Amino acid sequence: MSAVQMGQHAPASHVVAHLSDTHFLNGGAPLYGRVETDRTVHRAMEQLERSGLRPDALVLTGDIADRGEADAYRRVRDAIEATAARLGTRIIWVMGNHDERAAFRTELLGEQGSSEPVDGVFDVNGLRIIALDTSVPGYHHGELSTDQLAWLADVLSEPATHGTLLALHHPPLPTPLPLMDILELREQGNLASVLAGSDVRGILGGHLHYATTGMFAGVPVSVAAATCYTMDLSAPVRDLTGVDGGQSLNLVHVYDTQVVHSVVPIGAFPAATQFPDGFLDRMESLTPEDRLQAFSRHV
Ligand SMILES: [Fe+2]
Ligand SMILES: [Fe+2]
Repeated sequence: MSAVQMGQHAPASHVVAHLSDTHFLNGGAPLYGRVETDRTVHRAMEQLERSGLRPDALVLTGDIADRGEADAYRRVRDAIEATAARLGTRIIWVMGNHDERAAFRTELLGEQGSSEPVDGVFDVNGLRIIALDTSVPGYHHGELSTDQLAWLADVLSEPATHGTLLALHHPPLPTPLPLMDILELREQGNLASVLAGSDVRGILGGHLHYATTGMFAGVPVSVAAATCYTMDLSAPVRDLTGVDGGQSLNLVHVYDTQVVHSVVPIGAFPAATQFPDGFLDRMESLTPEDRLQAFSRHV
């Protein structure tokens, strides 16, 4: 990040790292016998730490454990907590359809096990993040109960200083993939009614295993691809193919008037180009006009 504002936007007030669908298995077993779920999460954490960013929160939008196993939750928690501690950031866990509420509570949240929805509201330095549990025990589609919607409406009745991000597993978006719409969030109109006129500035989702964006009830929706495997949208149109590639996390930059979601591929890639040491320092020392000239094509 530059120490000098070089454009028209002041720096982001908040940065959130958004990951989804870790799908860990007991003992670190590879998912489908092939996908090294733990390795990608560790790699993602290394990238976050290398970046020097200090996210205000790490948000994980569900399907944390593939089968709700205690050991799987503990290993995800160990990996994420170690980085969160070093970065001085908090973790917000969101339930997905593969998660089990009781184990999720005991292993991730350190709470008593319970089958009640795992909803929560977090004040992150004036930015409100609401975790909403769209899971339905025993099923893979998503629902929100009347009680949950009433609770959400009550929370949203008071605006937050920097507005609200809503984090849920089943994104309220259509999907072009076959079969995935069986597993969608049902009765989305009820959620739209609650969000109308609220201070919700963004919806963070998962579940689809590919990064995508859309609008819902006037609110931008951003889905983080999975860290385990991703769905191949270039597969033949009637196929449903998950691939061991394309994993990514999202960085969410919250500005005064905009929320910007950026996809960060997870992996070790060779540098193709880099500015030399000290280049940014030199640019910061110039006047805005000299900076513009230094980046012009005629120098
Ligand atoms: Fe998933
Ligand atoms: Fe899911």
